[in-house]
Amino acid sequence: MAVEVYFSEEQIATRIKEVADMINKDYAGQEVHIVGVLNGSFIFTADLVRQIKVPCVIDFMAASSYEGGTTSTGTVTIEKDIRDDIKGQNVILVEDIVDTGRTMKLLKEKLLERGPKSLKLCSLLYKPARLEFEVELDYLCFEIEDKFVIGYGLDFDGKYREMPYIGIYSDD
Ligand code: IMP
Ligand code: MG
Repeated sequence: MAVEVYFSEEQIATRIKEVADMINKDYAGQEVHIVGVLNGSFIFTADLVRQIKVPCVIDFMAASSYEGGTTSTGTVTIEKDIRDDIKGQNVILVEDIVDTGRTMKLLKEKLLERGPKSLKLCSLLYKPARLEFEVELDYLCFEIEDKFVIGYGLDFDGKYREMPYIGIYSDD
């Protein structure tokens, strides 16, 4: 297996600071619930929240999404839920990567049913070439090509999450 560096530790840190600054501006004087989607977003969420200056509650959820009968449907099962009731709260859902968009779209719908004051979507990476489910990201670090990436929380078969940079995985 070979790994080509896609985004270095420095590039990631610089971009996260910029995105956190947008959040700090947008939520000035307010509190925000940060909801990281496990497992992939654990490192991104940890680095992002350390640059967030507004008061926040940090929690995680885990979900698995499945394709439905057609490509335009799907279901998501929440395997681990957040602790708090988010009714009336400002929520930011934090993902590692939006690929087909299925997970983000379905989680967004589930969280909206709970009546938050606001819900925004944040992702470290976005692969527009593979998008099947319309999702509007409010905060995005990097748009990427149609390549399989690993590291900085992202895995291949459960491995490589601990790599400090984002790399392109190839089988040779
Ligand atoms: P979705 O297709 O947008 O629902 O993405 C589902 C999940 O697939 C993401 O949250 C990631 O965990 C995983 N995934 C998609 N593309 C990649 C990749 O390039 N590397 C590692 N995981 C990926
Ligand atoms: Mg994921």
